[in-house]
Amino acid sequence: MGDFFRGRRLRRTAALRELVRENVVCAADLIMPYFVVETDEPAFRKEIGAMPGQFQLSLQELEKQVEAAVAKGLRAVILFGIPKVKDYKGSEAYNKDGIVQQAVRLLKKRWPALVVVTDVCLCEYTDHGHCGLVRQGDTSGEVHNDPTLSLLTKAAVSHAEAGADIVAPSDMMDGRVQAIRAGLDANGFSHIPVMSYAVKYASSFYGPFREAAESTPQFGDRKTYQMDPANSREAMREAAADVDEDADFLIVKPAGPYLDIIRQVRDNFDLPVVAYQVSGEYSMIRAAGINGWINEEAVIMESLLGMKRAGCDLIITYFTEELLAKGLVR
Ligand code: PBG
Repeated sequence: MGDFFRGRRLRRTAALRELVRENVVCAADLIMPYFVVETDEPAFRKEIGAMPGQFQLSLQELEKQVEAAVAKGLRAVILFGIPKVKDYKGSEAYNKDGIVQQAVRLLKKRWPALVVVTDVCLCEYTDHGHCGLVRQGDTSGEVHNDPTLSLLTKAAVSHAEAGADIVAPSDMMDGRVQAIRAGLDANGFSHIPVMSYAVKYASSFYGPFREAAESTPQFGDRKTYQMDPANSREAMREAAADVDEDADFLIVKPAGPYLDIIRQVRDNFDLPVVAYQVSGEYSMIRAAGINGWINEEAVIMESLLGMKRAGCDLIITYFTEELLAKGLVR
């Protein structure tokens, strides 16, 4: 005996298992998304149908929500805005007093140390729901790349002016990291990092988010700018382009079904890699949990651990608040 591998030696006790554990999920790795709504109702708070436990919040309710989460150890948030009025060019995305800009000011004033990331995109602000510019009245689904860049840049600069710590473009237009970087630099924000949604797939896992952000495209789809789920070599070209354009973080999105992509981005690039566990991933785990079909807490932790094992540094997840509140991460 003894001439075979005895893997069980290191699994014998909890202390031994902990001693040899290769990956951990920490509170400092997690970023919590919030949906903030421009509304006349100060106490507006509406649960998102397909995302039980997640809410659209007025500014006042956002403050309450973040207050409770900060008390439990929340360190970073990413904000999505839902404006009162939408138009074909997403004007509210770059309004200095837009809803996200107001939310950033509010959060940074109360919690200067909280890391506030803003999602930079047009889809929540356009009446057609596309992430880029569509000619007024055109329903062909054509999204114009280059004219979108200056609008995204204006949005990013307005977020930085409001006090955002990091801007995160999620639109998938070509050249936007370069344009945003130049705009930030020209306006005195060379110290503000760009967290690029470098590898973003045209995924059906975003379904619940579109209800939450009221951003479903009114015609066409996002396949001319978001990536084909069948491709991985193309993901390396997208990531390389963003590295060239001076991105500071690379996001892979969705996360769970794309662990191979997280691993490849990790192996090919030295920037911090961010996994985005998207709305549909949240909803599936939550639904099974609510039904008692899985041990929800254990499944959440396992899903996040898989992302860490695949090589990401940070995780954007709707479970952040809950994990902190239950003491499941520290
Ligand atoms: C905006 C944006 C989307 C998500 C993040 N930023 C939606 C989309 O591209 O349709 C999805 C996040 C999620 O599903 O949780 N472009």
